[in-house]
Amino acid sequence: MGVATTSVITGCSEEPVTKFWQQGNYRPVSDEVTETTLKVEGTIPPELSGLYVRNGTNESTGIAPHFFGGDGMLHGIRLENGKAKWYRNRYVDTPVYRKETGGFSAPKPEDTTSAVSVLYHGDKLMSLGEFGYPYEIDPADLSTKGPFNYEGQLPGNMTAHPRIDPVTGELLFFGYDVTAPYLTYMRADKAGNMLQVEPIEMSGASMIHDFAVTDNYVVFMDMPVRFSWLSVAMGEGLPFKWDDSHMTRFGVMPRTGTNADVKWFDIPACFVFHIMNSFEQGDEVMVDAARYDNLWVKNSHDFFHPAHLSRFSMNMKTGQASVQRIYEGAMEFPQVNRSLWTKPYRYGYSLVVDEKYDTPELINQASSGIRKYDLQTGEADSWLPGPDLLPGEAVFIPANENGGGEDEGYLCSYVYDKNTEKSAFCIFDATKVSAGPIAKVQLPVRVPVGFHGVWVPDSAMA
Ligand SMILES: [Fe+2]
Repeated sequence: MGVATTSVITGCSEEPVTKFWQQGNYRPVSDEVTETTLKVEGTIPPELSGLYVRNGTNESTGIAPHFFGGDGMLHGIRLENGKAKWYRNRYVDTPVYRKETGGFSAPKPEDTTSAVSVLYHGDKLMSLGEFGYPYEIDPADLSTKGPFNYEGQLPGNMTAHPRIDPVTGELLFFGYDVTAPYLTYMRADKAGNMLQVEPIEMSGASMIHDFAVTDNYVVFMDMPVRFSWLSVAMGEGLPFKWDDSHMTRFGVMPRTGTNADVKWFDIPACFVFHIMNSFEQGDEVMVDAARYDNLWVKNSHDFFHPAHLSRFSMNMKTGQASVQRIYEGAMEFPQVNRSLWTKPYRYGYSLVVDEKYDTPELINQASSGIRKYDLQTGEADSWLPGPDLLPGEAVFIPANENGGGEDEGYLCSYVYDKNTEKSAFCIFDATKVSAGPIAKVQLPVRVPVGFHGVWVPDSAMA
């Protein structure tokens, strides 16, 4: 159990000549910083009081063998009544960061870089990795309190993409591993008490980064990016690669169901890291996701394939599944108003991916942007700032925590400026994304390219 990141990332004989993750804003930063004097351009909405924290890899030795392989680093900004009180970046203090792992000891679930995402649930702020236990973080200063394992009931790995039911507060999640049971489904109540631990039968070890939840179902993705012993032997970064012989299938299970209740649907071959949202419509379970035709074909450094927003439909009566592209532009890091997780929705948000420069050699010349999708009209409204300003994942913050229109709120993102080599925390009006940021909190440092963040309003914090 608990195959941790350190044990699956190895030295790499097959690295690309251009290690894109050691260039431009993919490079790690060297210092942990605390800044309490922050210059603000524009106006921070006064109703925003809370903490935004984003995770990402930041190799402390300077040489990560894979883009995903660095130590977890949190970048947080605290807002209070329209003021930016502080910015901090802190490593997640794990045994991997402390260089206490390796040698001949078997990897433990604590031995994770914890570098992928951030969760606030059960009155705990947690850093999550692809593998291993969550790490509890102090929201006051982003220091690491220690690993958390649901009072011993978390059997091993926990995904970086759990979902919180917006009505009940229940946490639905899973862990996957390269040894049996390859997939374990779990639920915890609003307070963080484990309710269910359910091994799910799989044909072997697939990479399963995310999953989908609707009001009544969860959806597991079994796709052709597979664990490969050959890749282990070859030292190919992460030992997962595309396997043409493995079918793509999505398993739909009632949220309180068991392995025996999983209904598997054959899907045309594809790979998905991230799901935008999922919901039910009549007999159909719908999953909107960033769909790749394929990924990691040569090895796990082979990121450079475009993903497109696509809708998967699984009919629970007929057993038939279909998929259709719902927007043509390449994209990643899909987000929604999280109060509509599991429910029908109209608006989604993502990063814009520049296909022209989507190679390891050119990626640092690529432009990006933030795109808002209106899934009712099929139209998009995008902020496209050109090649010098590069946003990260845009997280939606409701203007009114007690309700309001679906897009009444803000998007927040760390935006890197190539000219100054510094970043700004930017806030956008989600009803007018193309208008650009309404507030920019200038940071004294750059925030490297990273992964996922969360907004925790003060009203939600214990
Ligand atoms: Fe992710």
